[in-house]
Amino acid sequence: MTPLNIAEWQSLDRHYSDIKYLSMREQFALDSGRFERFSIRSGDLLLDYSKNRITQETIDKLIALADAVNIQEWIERMFSGDQINHTEGRAVLHTALRNRSNTPVMVDGQDVMPQVNAVLDKMAAFCEQVHSGKWLGFSNKKITDIVNIGIGGSDLGPAMICDALEPYGIDGIQAHFVSNVDGTDLSTTLEKLNPETTLFVVASKTFTTQETITNAQSARNWFLKAGTQADVAKHFVAVSTNAKEVAKFGIDTANMFEIWDWVGGRYSLWSAIGLPIALYVGMDNFLRLLDGGHEMDKHFRTKPLAENIPLIMGMLGIWYINFFNAQTHAIVPYDHSLARFPSHMQQLDMESNGKFINRQGARISYKTGPVIWGTPGTNGQHAYFQLIHQGTQLIPVDFVLPVNSHYPECDHQSILLANGLAQSEALMKGKTAEEVREELVKEGYEGKALDALLPHKVFPGNRPSNVLLFPKLTPEMLGQLVALYEHKVFVQGVIWNINSFDQWGVELGKQLAKAILPDLQSNAEISVHDSSTTELIRLIRTLRQ
Ligand code: F6P
Repeated sequence: MTPLNIAEWQSLDRHYSDIKYLSMREQFALDSGRFERFSIRSGDLLLDYSKNRITQETIDKLIALADAVNIQEWIERMFSGDQINHTEGRAVLHTALRNRSNTPVMVDGQDVMPQVNAVLDKMAAFCEQVHSGKWLGFSNKKITDIVNIGIGGSDLGPAMICDALEPYGIDGIQAHFVSNVDGTDLSTTLEKLNPETTLFVVASKTFTTQETITNAQSARNWFLKAGTQADVAKHFVAVSTNAKEVAKFGIDTANMFEIWDWVGGRYSLWSAIGLPIALYVGMDNFLRLLDGGHEMDKHFRTKPLAENIPLIMGMLGIWYINFFNAQTHAIVPYDHSLARFPSHMQQLDMESNGKFINRQGARISYKTGPVIWGTPGTNGQHAYFQLIHQGTQLIPVDFVLPVNSHYPECDHQSILLANGLAQSEALMKGKTAEEVREELVKEGYEGKALDALLPHKVFPGNRPSNVLLFPKLTPEMLGQLVALYEHKVFVQGVIWNINSFDQWGVELGKQLAKAILPDLQSNAEISVHDSSTTELIRLIRTLRQ
């Protein structure tokens, strides 16, 4: 039940005591084959994990732990539609959405692939109509702007992918994403748009999410200032599991793209939740994204554990979180178009593995999911990298490095890559007191001035990082990257014996917000809250304009 009792975990614990001070710098000096030993290639994607605080024994022990929890069996259970999301009684089949091999995937004795393919066909037909101009707005103008209204998994994934695949964008189509119930989000988006040429995609798996429904209602009100109720059908489509609520909202269910309960929100960009992606970059490119995801699925499902990129990345995470006590993990893409990648990964990882109860319902006594964060390089270097280099916490970093840019401005890409590699090297090597002394002497320092400055310029080094390197950010590569992190999160959830596919932790806040809302909307007696919340409600009432 608890991984702490597994012999392989305990063996890792002892091994940690033995090697916790192991110097990566020394290991590199001792072993010229370290990069070869600790790197994996899968097609065009390379994982270099040599700059980690590991020896071959560490990796062997991490793999033995994965084996001890029957990771391969769990992988099969996920891919074959077992109800591994047991608290919601659901299968977990985002892999079926990108199952380009089209092999049958059974849920409750039924192959889901015909449904998956039917929705893909419907998306393709719809995109074709919009792009060709067969689908026109109410005043017979072509659609120029897609506004996705959704939140969480119904926003972050598609928004990230559209940003990342901007070079593949179809001429004449812009994609916008409105998620926040803060009216600023919707208003500042709509003020630039023309209702005659705007298509809203209301994306909500449940179609009951307060933020999304509120934004969708306001968007419809905005639209109705120009068009009529009958015109709504030409400007609003939905993506959901909930046909009843879609119809209630007033969207023709013929214009609803179906998803299923076995698609988790944060795993849903591969489904019809990806409709804004397909509308923005074209269905062909959306399918290329699915192809990439499927490639990674095949890799994850078939490669031996020692050559399995998501498995190794997941187990390295376990090594740092559970043995080195790391609290956070940074993902730093050296590609400006991946600016939203860390945010998507944040939801993916933190909503999946932010759990304190194990699969059997008992409280657990070891650490689970880390805080995931990051922003694109090189910007992060001039902001928070100080703490990663010289702070008191160990923060493992993933550097995501495409070799070629879609915007090859003279030296920019080489400078960008040099910086990414330099950060990874600097974190590993650090700078010793002797090296700093030598530098300071060369700069003319001596005596007390030198001694006073010296400790501030020392870099402890020995700070771990991975490099994910690939030729260019294509739809296929992006698909591989996202699927890679999905599987990494899955691996860690299996080790921690938690359900990575529910998210009950988001419910309490939703419930309380519903209880507070009437107190904010009236001047009646405030319902029962703690004194802090009550006084804050009072103050808001007085400050309200
Ligand atoms: O509140 C969390 C959550 O349920 C996420 O898991 C989900 O991606 C998001 O809300 C949006 O949900 P829906 O697609 O049902 O509107």
